[in-house]
Amino acid sequence: MKPPRKLHIKSYGCQMNVYDAQRMVDTLAPEGFVETASAEDADLVILNTCHIREKASEKVYSELGRLRVAKETAARQGRQMRIAVAGCVAQAEGEEIIRRAPVVDVVVGPQSYHHLPQLLERAKSQGRAIETEFPAADKFGFLPNPEPDAIRARGISAFVTVQEGCDKFCTFCVVPYTRGAEVSRPVARIIDDVARLADNGVREITLIGQNVNAYHGEGPDGRSWPLGRLLHRLAEIDGIARLRYSTSHPRDVDDSLVSAHRDLPALMPFVHLPVQSGSDRILAAMNRKHTADDYRRVIDRFRDARQGIAFSSDFIVGFPGETAEEFAATLALVSQIGYAAAYSFKYSPRPGTPAADMRETVSAAEMDERLVQLQELIDSQQSAFNKAMIGNTVDVLFERAARNPGQIVGRTGYLQPAHVFASPDIIGQVLPVRIESLERYSLLGQLAARPMATARSPMTDTPELSISSQTIMGA
Ligand code: 5AD
Ligand code: SF4
Repeated sequence: MKPPRKLHIKSYGCQMNVYDAQRMVDTLAPEGFVETASAEDADLVILNTCHIREKASEKVYSELGRLRVAKETAARQGRQMRIAVAGCVAQAEGEEIIRRAPVVDVVVGPQSYHHLPQLLERAKSQGRAIETEFPAADKFGFLPNPEPDAIRARGISAFVTVQEGCDKFCTFCVVPYTRGAEVSRPVARIIDDVARLADNGVREITLIGQNVNAYHGEGPDGRSWPLGRLLHRLAEIDGIARLRYSTSHPRDVDDSLVSAHRDLPALMPFVHLPVQSGSDRILAAMNRKHTADDYRRVIDRFRDARQGIAFSSDFIVGFPGETAEEFAATLALVSQIGYAAAYSFKYSPRPGTPAADMRETVSAAEMDERLVQLQELIDSQQSAFNKAMIGNTVDVLFERAARNPGQIVGRTGYLQPAHVFASPDIIGQVLPVRIESLERYSLLGQLAARPMATARSPMTDTPELSISSQTIMGA
């Protein structure tokens, strides 16, 4: 038995990172590492970083500044603290991280987490260890997930990676460079993962990938399966009550995905579908490969297939050369679609991407102004959407005891947190809740009798709505 050591992981960015953090915990557990909530008393601190916007990577360096102090304090107390940088900043900047922050012992890219124990050993003997290679694909053409056993039950809801990387090369985006080319996992492995999770009590699976609906994994029949077909198959697995997927690209929405929303009650009617801009000229400059009208048509296809389906999106304001009229086209698109939630960001140039070389700029003041306007519009749509739940009875999947004693919290189909006073026995069940009020983003209600099929409102039939605090970066 190895002596127990304390591990603290701080994750930034997308759900992929949240999921990867679990993989790192699982990889390090046999080495005697147990998780601790505070960085200060940890033997190993891992910053699981995000490179998607400049602000996100700068945060890493300020955190490393704070960790330097913690590491020095630990050393004075006779304890050795090691610091590792993982995630997309590690992938993109590699050695540069140690040059800028010599306090770092290990730099590890997303494809190499299974080597963490060896990297720690190497850091011990050589002072530093860096691994940011993209390893060769296996015979299925799939790079990561070296340890399928690493996917375990973690409560009621779990993430399963089905593809990684992206071939879209939007001109503002680092993902194709940091996460590499698009690779899909074979169907059989995903079925195994989901079946094992279901056996361990997981009721909700979110299939994740940077461009998840570009999925084209090899099926048991030797043919390439689209995401919709995979969802159909996963919906057959006993115990799986809910399926979700994130993040999608409008170009890759095919008929199989749309019909999955029509045919599968387990597939939640909430789709994160980033559009980035409502202006065709900006969309072209972004290399999005779709127009605003193409996007509207995709939304219509989903809406025709599934009553009550709702959408969230990502937007960038201040892309190089964006005029006031072009920004107004974004506002017009948002008004027309009506989102349940959305994320909006100020454009930030990422070194190495084509947009970083574009000379036109939008002033900082103009960007701020546009961001405020867009966020006000999105907030008003989100509040209206949440308020519309009051008085309805919606299905909630209960996940855990809430902070408030006696309350249990779950999520609606639209990812809104919903609280009820009830026994913890309901954890893991999908139950109808009559929504009575809204507190900020959280719904409060009471367990309701299951309504008669004929008396169902559309909201009940097509459960629920909102958005998690994080999305998969991408698409
Ligand atoms: N600047 C601003 N926002 C960006 N995003 C990705 N790259 C950039 C960038 N360079 C946003 C996109 C994407 C989300 C995850 O982050 O909106 O969908
Ligand atoms: Fe790929 Fe999405 Fe990045 Fe575009 S924004 S390159 S689709 S990950």
